[in-house]
Amino acid sequence: MKVEKTMTSQATRLTLLLALLAWAVVAMFPANVMAAGDPDEDPPLAALGPVPEPPDNRITPEKVELGLLLYFDPKLSGDASLGCADCHKPSEGWATNEPICRGYPGTVHWRNCQTVVNSGYLGKLFWQGNAKSLESQAKTAATGGVSGNGERDVMEQRLRQTPEYLKRFREVYGTERPILNDAWNAIATFERAMLSQTDTPLDRYLKGDKAALSEQAIAGLELFNGKANCIECHNGAMLSDEKYYNMGVPRPFEWEETGLNTITFRFELYAKGVYEEYYQEFKDDLGLYFTTKRKSDMGKFRTPPLRYVAFTAPYMHAGQFFTLEEVIDFYDEGGGENEMNDRFGNKTPILKPLNLSDEEKEALVAFLEELSGDEIEIPLPPVPPYGVMPDVAGLTQADAKRAGLEMYLIQSGQE
Ligand code: HEC
Ligand code: HEC
Repeated sequence: MKVEKTMTSQATRLTLLLALLAWAVVAMFPANVMAAGDPDEDPPLAALGPVPEPPDNRITPEKVELGLLLYFDPKLSGDASLGCADCHKPSEGWATNEPICRGYPGTVHWRNCQTVVNSGYLGKLFWQGNAKSLESQAKTAATGGVSGNGERDVMEQRLRQTPEYLKRFREVYGTERPILNDAWNAIATFERAMLSQTDTPLDRYLKGDKAALSEQAIAGLELFNGKANCIECHNGAMLSDEKYYNMGVPRPFEWEETGLNTITFRFELYAKGVYEEYYQEFKDDLGLYFTTKRKSDMGKFRTPPLRYVAFTAPYMHAGQFFTLEEVIDFYDEGGGENEMNDRFGNKTPILKPLNLSDEEKEALVAFLEELSGDEIEIPLPPVPPYGVMPDVAGLTQADAKRAGLEMYLIQSGQE
C-alpha cells in the first residue's frame, strides 16, 4: 500500500512536471516562430533611430570634421598610401566594388570590403563579427597586415608633424600633440555622424508614408516578410539579426587560381592559429570558427545589414555574386553547397528552395534597390600637408603667433 501510494504520487509529480515542461516549451517558442524552423524572435523591419553615441566618445562638430580629414588621409597606413577612403570609397558605396578587396601594396585582402555606411548601428563588425566598436575597428584596419599595415609610432609621428592636425587635435582633445588613439575616436565619430541614414524610402514607408515605396517594391517587402522568409535573419532596423550562419556560399575561385590570393588566405589561416591539418587542407574561409574554434561554427558569417545594398555589389563575404539577381537566385535554390558544409554538415536548415516566380524575384530586387535610398555624397577634403619643424629656439609667444608657429612652440615645450 505504502509503496503503491508513493508510486502514485511520483507518477502525479511526473505528469505535472511534464505538463509544466510542455507549457514552457510552447511559451518559449510560439507556433508561428517554430514553424519557420528557427526558434528565435524575428523583430519586424523598423525605421532607424538616432545613432547610438558612446558616453566616452561624444559627437561634436569639431570632432566630426577632424575624423573626416583622417578618414581621407593616407598617413594612417604603413607607407602613407592607403587611407580608409582608398578601400571604403564614397563612389563605390563607401566600399570597394571588387569581389575581394584590394590590400596593402604588394598584397590583396581576403574578404569583400563592407560598406561603412550605417556601421555606427552595428554591435558586431566585420564578416566574422570580431570587432565590437568602430573605435577598435579603425585601429585594426590601419594596422592589419593586409589592410593599413601601419606602425603605431610612425603614424602618430606623422600626425604630430602636420600643423593642421596639431591645431585640430588640440582644439578637440586638449592635448599638446596628437595621440593616435584619439584619431581612431575621431574617425569613428565621423562614421557615426555623417554616414548614418535615417530617412530612406524604407524609413518613410515604415513611418506611414505609403507612397515612399513603389508598388513593386511593396510586393517585394511582402515576400521578404513572408514567402521568401528573408526576415528570419535580415530583421530589425538594420535588416540584420547579427547572428551567424553557414549559407553554403561557394568558395571563391581566387583561392585556387591566383597566387597572391592564396598567400593572403594561408597567411590568415596561419596567423589565426588553426590546426596544422586545416592549414594544410582547407581552401575555404572558416568564418566564425576563427573566433570560437568550434567546429560547428565553420564557414559561418554575420548576417550583413541590407540598408545600403544597392550600392555595394558584389555580394557575400568574398564577393561571390555580382548582382542582386544572382543573390535572389541563390536563395531561390535554397542556398548552396560549400566545403564547410560537406565536412561539418552545418549549413543552416532555415534555407529551403523558395519556388519564386520571375515576377516575385524582380519584386524582391526592386525592394532591395529602393530601400537603399540616395547615395551619400560629400565633398572630398584636402589632405593636410606635413610641416617642417621650424627653428623655434628663443622664439617668443608673440613672434610665434605672428609667424603662425605657436603649435610648434608648445610641442617643443616653450609655452
Ligand atoms: C585595404 C583595404 C582596407 C582599408 C585600408 C580599410 N578597410 Fe575597412 N574593411 C576592409 C575589408 C576587406 C573589410 C571586411 C573585413 C572582414 O570582414 O574581415 C572591412 C571592414 C570594415 C568595417 C566593418 C563594417 C561592417 O559592416 O562590419 C568598418 C567599420 C571599416 N572597415 C572601417 C575602416 C576604417 C575606419 C578604415 C581606416 C582606418 C578602414 N576600414 C581601412 C578593407 C579596408
Ligand atoms: C539564415 C539566415 C538568412 C536568411 C533567411 C537570408 N539571409 Fe541574406 N544573408 C545571410 C548571411 C549570413 C549572409 C552572408 C553570407 C556569406 O557571405 O557567406 C547574407 C547575405 C545576403 C546579401 C549580401 C549582402 C552583402 O552585403 O554582401 C543579400 C543581398 C541578402 N543576404 C539578401 C537576402 C534576401 C533577399 C533574403 C530572402 C530571400 C535573405 N537574404 C535571406 C543570412 C540570411
